[in-house]
Amino acid sequence: MSRTPLISGNWKMHLNHLEAIQLCQKLSYELARHRYDQVEVSLHPPFIDLRSCQTVIDADRLEFKLGAQNCHDQSKGAYTGEVSPSMLAKLDVSYVIVGHSERRALFNETDEFIAAKAAAVAKAGMTPIVCVGETLEERESGQAAAVVTTQLRGSLAKLTRASFETLVVAYEPVWAIGTGRNASPEDAQDMCATARNVIDDIRRGTGEHVRIQYGGSVKPANAHELLRQPDIDGALVGGASLDAVQFARIVHAAT
Ligand code: PGA
Repeated sequence: MSRTPLISGNWKMHLNHLEAIQLCQKLSYELARHRYDQVEVSLHPPFIDLRSCQTVIDADRLEFKLGAQNCHDQSKGAYTGEVSPSMLAKLDVSYVIVGHSERRALFNETDEFIAAKAAAVAKAGMTPIVCVGETLEERESGQAAAVVTTQLRGSLAKLTRASFETLVVAYEPVWAIGTGRNASPEDAQDMCATARNVIDDIRRGTGEHVRIQYGGSVKPANAHELLRQPDIDGALVGGASLDAVQFARIVHAAT
């Protein structure tokens, strides 16, 4: 089973719309210098930058897919400050990150809410990138696999069987995010293989289709070793995605 790697840039709360346009253009220039036919690339700017990025991607026919970092599960209503999946779909957004560990930890998002969001994203015709991952405490006490299993069972609970065919899961150990300390390729492979088995157990026969990204301090220096693991089908990149040269090198490492 060959799965096309997906390299996603999670810009988090960085870059205003003018800076976002610049980064799209720089990235397009850097990526044009490498071949990357066999890799898919998605960019996840803050909400307010989406329209600007969409316009540049469209006008310059750039190869990137547009992504969002979050959304609400309802399609409209009295939810001050929220953005709905249908609004994102209208902007040509293809991928929506749901359940990032920063949202789980800082905004108290539960598996149940994440499951509702993932289902709403899929229903609106986009692909959710569902994030899971253990904390350092959980890893050190031998709970990593159990934690990720529980998160997967909870967060994927509302997806239809058809949605599993295109689903993306990101395994991101919390202790590796933004710390400069990545999981070893062996540990990352081990956890991604565990995640694939759990996914297959939830919906028989879908495990081999689901793309599983690794995330947490992915850089040009470690990307190749991580991405060559059999169960790692791409990367969710934070810090290094804000630098066009570094991000392009990570994309290149996936080819
Ligand atoms: P990082 O972030 O690459 O800066 O560690 C990854 C993420 O949060 O998705």
